[in-house]
Amino acid sequence: MQAIRMMRGAAVFAAACVVSLYFSCDAAADNGPHIMGMGATTDRCAMCHRAHTAQAPYLLKQPEEALCYTCHGTSGTGSNLDVADGVGYSGAGRTGAKMALRGGGFKYALIDSAHPSGNGYVGEIPTLASGAAVTSAHSVDSSSQMAWGNGPINGSEASYGKQVALRCGSCHDPHGNGNYRILRPIPQESGATTGVSIGDTTAKVYTTENYWEVEDESAPEFVEKISSWCATCHTRYLAGHNSATTSSGDKVFTYRHRTNETSQSTPTCIQCHVAHGSNASMGTYSAAIANPDGSSAVSTPAGPDSRLLRIDNMGVCQMCHNK
Ligand code: HEC
Ligand code: HEC
Ligand code: HEC
Ligand code: HEC
Ligand code: HEC
Ligand code: HEC
Repeated sequence: MQAIRMMRGAAVFAAACVVSLYFSCDAAADNGPHIMGMGATTDRCAMCHRAHTAQAPYLLKQPEEALCYTCHGTSGTGSNLDVADGVGYSGAGRTGAKMALRGGGFKYALIDSAHPSGNGYVGEIPTLASGAAVTSAHSVDSSSQMAWGNGPINGSEASYGKQVALRCGSCHDPHGNGNYRILRPIPQESGATTGVSIGDTTAKVYTTENYWEVEDESAPEFVEKISSWCATCHTRYLAGHNSATTSSGDKVFTYRHRTNETSQSTPTCIQCHVAHGSNASMGTYSAAIANPDGSSAVSTPAGPDSRLLRIDNMGVCQMCHNK
């Protein structure tokens, strides 16, 4: 199983190099057009920027979601990674086998969230053969959204977070930066002052066959540092040992599940949540969970807000606690 996964990863990587021969492929880090150090006479800025006739902030030739989707969307062929549908292709130009992307997807995802198995820290969440519409996703259209928990512990008044115009470029640096998945050490508008750099991998494995296995074997820093990274925006969601029984002093985020662990099958943000979007479905009680400020969570046409969770209802709890 492991060997197959690695082989497929290698195939994806090789295919990426075929597709992007135009770009540098000696990439020890980064990938596609997103490779740092573009050089003194680079042509590449013109792929995305216009000097006088830009149509979106940061001098972009088109708004960001659409710009990224020209290659990473449903009909783009410029990348094998279709993050809208949650699908990674094994061959060049959207050919070959369809596999499930690690991050889930923004419109559809391939998480078989209804059929987890195993517990006691080992388990499996299989993948679906075809996409199911997502019930939650990070927004990527630059609309203003509440980054829950942003900011320090506040014991004097209820503070819920900060409005952020979230987009792909909030989290990823499209210019390349040598970090895992070109993640920005300090996401745009996070307000963080300390950056979290996650070391890159040379074996680019973007797909998974088991959504419970969240580590990236060739990038150990991913699972080690991802909670700290997510907490650059969701500051007060990062909680240590005994935080479930010891008050943080915060008016809103008072008692919290531990999230600051650093390895596979332990409570890290990415163990319970995917990064992009999930198709998990929520039942009576899970669907009724309000947002931290008491407002109702917004339902999608596919069902109530699943909060990027990897398993239906509160299935994630049972993977570790089996009550
Ligand atoms: C001209 C096509 C194109 C555009 C536009 C584009 N990408 Fe990419 N991107 C690629 C290619 C090619 C790869 C390498 C994987 C592959 O071969 O499919 C890639 C890889 C990535 C990766 C993985 C990088 C790594 O280090 O492994 C991320 C993340 C990414 N793109 C984000 C973005 C974001 C965000 C935008 C919009 C700002 C964007 N891309 C726009 C073509 C594109
Ligand atoms: C694949 C698309 C892409 C390419 C290629 C690209 N950019 Fe960008 N650039 C973006 C996006 C998207 C943003 C906005 C990021 C955000 O949302 O915060 C941006 C932002 C910027 C910014 C301001 C914010 C920052 O990150 O510093 C500068 C300056 C910039 N680009 C310069 C360049 C130059 C110079 C080149 C060529 C060497 C280039 N870009 C190539 C997509 C691209
Ligand atoms: C809230 C932060 C965030 C936003 C917004 C975001 N990403 Fe990501 N992205 C991540 C993280 C974290 C990962 C690594 C996920 C993993 O390996 O489990 C990732 C992974 C990826 C990958 C690798 C494939 C995969 O599914 O793991 C690509 C390609 C990518 N992102 C492109 C994009 C594009 C294009 C957009 C906008 C349409 C976007 N991302 C928006 C955080 C973000
Ligand atoms: C750049 C800031 C930023 C980063 C980094 C970030 N988020 Fe978010 N997150 C937001 C914002 C803004 C929202 C509000 C919902 C939206 O995007 O529409 C949100 C919402 C969420 C939600 C609730 C989604 C829902 O359906 O209500 C979850 C869960 C979440 N984030 C988890 C994560 C995890 C896990 C990571 C790290 C992989 C992460 N976030 C990184 C800004 C961020
Ligand atoms: C043990 C599993 C687990 C871990 C670990 C975890 N979450 Fe969650 N998260 C959930 C569940 C379940 C919900 C649904 C709301 C609830 O039950 O309070 C949720 C909801 C959220 C929300 C939506 C707002 C809200 O509170 O309802 C955000 C944002 C979020 N999580 C971010 C994070 C971040 C950032 C981390 C890491 C620092 C993290 N989560 C770690 C299980 C987890
Ligand atoms: C990845 C494994 C994992 C998942 C998933 C998980 N937990 Fe936990 N849980 C732990 C660990 C480990 C601790 C001990 C944390 C510490 O060191 O304080 C813990 C502690 C707790 C505690 C405090 C117990 C005590 O005696 O202090 C409660 C309550 C709890 N979890 C409930 C939940 C619920 C509810 C969910 C689903 C939303 C959940 N857990 C998901 C691993 C997990």
